[in-house]
Amino acid sequence: MQFKMIQPDDCHLHVRSGAALKSIIGMTVAQMGRAIIMPNLNSPVTNATQARIYKEEILSVLPKGSKFNPLMVLYLTDNTTSKDIQEAIDSGVVAAKLYPVGVTTNSDGGVTNITKLYPTLESMQKLGMLLLMHGEVTRNEVDIFDREAVFIDEVLNQVVNNFPELKIVFEHITTKDAVDFVLTSHHKIAATITPHHLLANRNDMLVGGIKPHYFCLPVLKRKNPHQLALLYAATSGNTKFFLGTDSAPHAKTDKESACGCAGIFTAHCAIELYATAFERQNALDKLEGFASKFGADFYNLPHNTQTITLKKQDWVVPASYPFAHSDIVPFMATKTLGWKLI
Ligand code: DOR
Ligand code: ZN
Repeated sequence: MQFKMIQPDDCHLHVRSGAALKSIIGMTVAQMGRAIIMPNLNSPVTNATQARIYKEEILSVLPKGSKFNPLMVLYLTDNTTSKDIQEAIDSGVVAAKLYPVGVTTNSDGGVTNITKLYPTLESMQKLGMLLLMHGEVTRNEVDIFDREAVFIDEVLNQVVNNFPELKIVFEHITTKDAVDFVLTSHHKIAATITPHHLLANRNDMLVGGIKPHYFCLPVLKRKNPHQLALLYAATSGNTKFFLGTDSAPHAKTDKESACGCAGIFTAHCAIELYATAFERQNALDKLEGFASKFGADFYNLPHNTQTITLKKQDWVVPASYPFAHSDIVPFMATKTLGWKLI
């Protein structure tokens, strides 16, 4: 059995830079027409010039003849101005990303208090620039499993109320609270859902020993009600939910460490992972909308004109891939998947 679908877009992707970028970009190019490129490099992409340089770097390492289109994102800091937003738009940047300070990898330069950025959000609203949010609070006293729900109460609600015309993507949602928030909010609020949050829950990470390759942020939650709510949302056909892998490569040694990095690498078989989740829900007919239409529509982009073909075929995910000057352990390493991109 096989089926064809419009080529998907990855609406949330980390590709890093330098040798790391070179070693993994081909995997995304083989699957996706475009990707929304996250700006949290060691030295974050905080202005239009850096976005242009980063885009050029990505284009320079694409396989010959590739039509893959990296779409660039600005990293918001306390000092991002309306002028920065205008310059970013003028150079083709498609969105700006909120990382609350300290929330994840390379977020030390992130935003300390969103209200400081309200004048900038005002301009984004006026200019039609999308706001992408890592939706977790970082206060020490808030339990790590509650940080997304508290973010909705303390931050997201206020932003949505103060900026009713601002388009927002609530990134990599992980809870029923987030699903419900998106479902009940107006049409300018959407969310990305990762393959690992569809296929795994916190038991996968913690039962039988701690599994660092299942550690990401926001952290995996419980199956019921959270993973189940995500599966429902992704496969519902609701246009507010779309594909964003949050594939976040880290070297094996940086993950298998006393203080392991957050991030799960899924770019090697992103669409196969989603197909696996959708098939389990008996909803393969909903995959094309989620993967190839709803994200593009939200970003006001045309659908890709190429197609891809997925075949029902067992294959074993490799134990590792080369990564920069070392190697990386992919999601589902050594496990058998039932779908293959051909
Ligand atoms: O697990 C994660 N890894 N979550 C993020 O938000 C960032 C990412 C990364 O860049 O490593
Ligand atoms: Zn991310």
